Amino acid sequence: CTVALAWPSQKLCSAASCITPLATLHGAAVLTVEGLTSPDGAPHPVAERLAKFNGSQCGFCTPGMVMQLYSTLSNADGGKACAEKELEHCINGNMCRCTGYRPIIECAKSFAADTKVKSQLDPTVEVGPYDAAAADPKVIFPPAQTLTGGMWKRPTTVPEALEAMRAGAQPIAGGTAGGIYPELRPEGAALAGRVLVDLGGVPELKAMTLEGTTLRIGAATTWTAFSEQLRELVASGSAANPAALSLLEQRCSSIAGGQVRNRGTIGGNIALARGRAFISDWVPPLAALGAMIEVYMPGAWAPERHNLLSFVQEQAPCHGLIRSVLLPLPAADVVFRSFRVAKRSRNAHALVNAGISASFSAGKASKVSMVVGAEVAEGRSVMVRLKAFERALEKVKADEVQNALPSVITTLCDKVKSDLSLVFFDVGRDFAEHVVSGFAVKFLAAMFGDCLPKEWRSAEYCLHDMDRSTASAQAFPQPTDLKGPLNKPMTKTTAVDQAMGIAQYTDDMTLPEGALTAAFVVCPEANVVFAGVDACRGNAMALLGEAYHSLVTADDLAESSLNVGEMLGLAVPPMYNASFDNTHYLLLPLGEPSKFAGQPVALLLAKGKDYRKIEHVAYLCSQDLLLERKGPVMIGNLLGGEEVTEPLTCTKTKAIPTATLEKAKAAGGENYIAGRFQKDSQAHFYMEGQSTVVIPDEGGITCYAASQSPDCVQKAICKVTGLVQSQVAVKQRRVGGAFGGKLQVPAVFA
Ligand SMILES: Cc1cc2nc3c(=O)[nH]c(=O)nc-3n(C[C@H](O)[C@H](O)[C@H](O)COP(=O)(O)OP(=O)(O)OC[C@H]3O[C@@H](n4cnc5c(N)ncnc54)[C@H](O)[C@@H]3O)c2cc1C
Ligand code: FES
Repeated sequence: CTVALAWPSQKLCSAASCITPLATLHGAAVLTVEGLTSPDGAPHPVAERLAKFNGSQCGFCTPGMVMQLYSTLSNADGGKACAEKELEHCINGNMCRCTGYRPIIECAKSFAADTKVKSQLDPTVEVGPYDAAAADPKVIFPPAQTLTGGMWKRPTTVPEALEAMRAGAQPIAGGTAGGIYPELRPEGAALAGRVLVDLGGVPELKAMTLEGTTLRIGAATTWTAFSEQLRELVASGSAANPAALSLLEQRCSSIAGGQVRNRGTIGGNIALARGRAFISDWVPPLAALGAMIEVYMPGAWAPERHNLLSFVQEQAPCHGLIRSVLLPLPAADVVFRSFRVAKRSRNAHALVNAGISASFSAGKASKVSMVVGAEVAEGRSVMVRLKAFERALEKVKADEVQNALPSVITTLCDKVKSDLSLVFFDVGRDFAEHVVSGFAVKFLAAMFGDCLPKEWRSAEYCLHDMDRSTASAQAFPQPTDLKGPLNKPMTKTTAVDQAMGIAQYTDDMTLPEGALTAAFVVCPEANVVFAGVDACRGNAMALLGEAYHSLVTADDLAESSLNVGEMLGLAVPPMYNASFDNTHYLLLPLGEPSKFAGQPVALLLAKGKDYRKIEHVAYLCSQDLLLERKGPVMIGNLLGGEEVTEPLTCTKTKAIPTATLEKAKAAGGENYIAGRFQKDSQAHFYMEGQSTVVIPDEGGITCYAASQSPDCVQKAICKVTGLVQSQVAVKQRRVGGAFGGKLQVPAVFA
């Protein structure tokens, strides 16, 4: 979904189109992957080189890779102003499920002016920057438009923004949050129907100014702009502690991906972090450095100053306008570190994170500040200061570190535990204490450096702090030299099409006239008994009208096609998926319990080619299936020692907000249930869609299936239809990887 955005006289930047509200792009030019291709049809150098470096396999991620690389390179004069490392990291918001990243990263690095990369596939492939002036497409801005009325207000001054907020409008800055955290949308509600104040057009909120030794950062400053400012400060030589600023910059530019950092703002992040279910990676480091914020509280025309940490620790959301963050630049004697532990080093929210700073001179620490952020029970997060640890660290002496390090560490870790004793971590107490104690030890190691016994000095570093070597040692296997063009490695022929966004997948096929379209109606829950389809059929007829054809259930299937294992001719479950056993139905029969959420129960057929519409109707019909939920759901010992064993028809868990509980208590309610219960339900899905086109011809059929295993598709069709293999041709268009989802699964769809 990555596109490049440009505003007149500003640098081009990438953004995730899927979470960018169109109205925030007022006046901007939007460039998609198709727009990079030159008018004569020649691929853009980035697309071409990615293909030649073998950086595209299924091609699912390739246009996004091209756009992210292009946006970065176009900013840097085709690569002339980029270091290899920067280019490697610029794609850290893009995921690839096939290539293992190596060829993509090498292609990215190959654009640096002093690159050391060579293509091992084809040594003649060009490396080094491209000629941006010649190859970059012309950016065309839309004609000037006036935004009037409606739900979007675009003020240009703070008073105008406040005025709109007084009238009930909600601020929106980068707009990154609404698309990805639906529960955190403004006021927890959908964007539709609300009046929004777009802060992106208020210069005052985007300004960054140095006031003495404090950096004032406007709340609508993007993370990318903030990182750039930190880099400039370091490069200017005027900062008292460039090392601390560089570390802060590295932390900021490693969070989320470029597409999010280019649009998401500091104010938006802080607003999300306050009292809500969101673990901010930015607040702990900024808070540890003593940041303050300025906020216009609701109804006020002048801003108030608050300590950043205290502000986010408040439970109630803030309905005011955050104006700026005031960051005191660290003095020369400050040691600063920030840490985060997540399921992946990139593109995953932290489970636990921290910022720590201390003044350190003459072998002693003072003014220690450690702020820890963590996901806690009931889907919420907290940020706390570790005060006992801070006091203990201030007492540590250099000679104790040299001579009695284990006991120093034990004391500090005990303090960490006592500080965290009231936090109920989602990841478990042992894990969290262990991780945060690790942060504390790393900080100690950073502070005392050479005083540490030699064997402890590497404690400061993390594996992902270390640089990856430039050219990979992995070589393509060299084929026997047959002295001719045969047997030479070559670029996959469709890779350039994939990189240009013009490769043809099954979904891109033009469907023949008179096509019937089908989509599965699926059971929305696991462990429920499927009891009826009548309401679902009625609803499908009403929604589709004339286009409705039929709703096929297990009753309509031949015995031979009821069982997926049998249909595929797999007596022994395949190694990939143990669920292909003899109870895995193609369509779940009436009276049978569902095995997983998303299990097919019926096939809805409709006339016409509009598969998006019929998929949507099938999805709506899934909600109308008659399901029986059996057995009591135990919610345990929550009500004054009494076990509740009533059957509950609850399918979703929802945390009861603390404020609601408090309100209920205040109103004199007698029983309160706090906590959550869950019901085993596993959703099975693959990232890529599944689609198949089947065309009857000459007494047989031609089936276009996105399968890596066409013979499996062919055999399954024969088993179900009684056709012989010579009557069934299975053709493949482009196929994605999908980690097993493109092996046998497409046969079910076919
Ligand atoms: C894919 C993805 C990955 C991410 N990964 C991380 C991560 O690893 N770590 C992390 O910390 N964050 C992460 N984020 C969160 C990201 O930092 C925030 O979405 C972003 O900073 C919010 O800024 P925004 O301008 O887009 O806010 P918006 O979406 O515009 O607004 C978010 C909320 O803040 C309010 N708001 C915005 N500006 C103000 C203001 N000035 N005053 C008062 N209220 C305001 C809005 O009313 C709204 O309720 C990720 C986001 C995405 C989309
Ligand atoms: S090539 Fe990257 S996801 Fe397949």
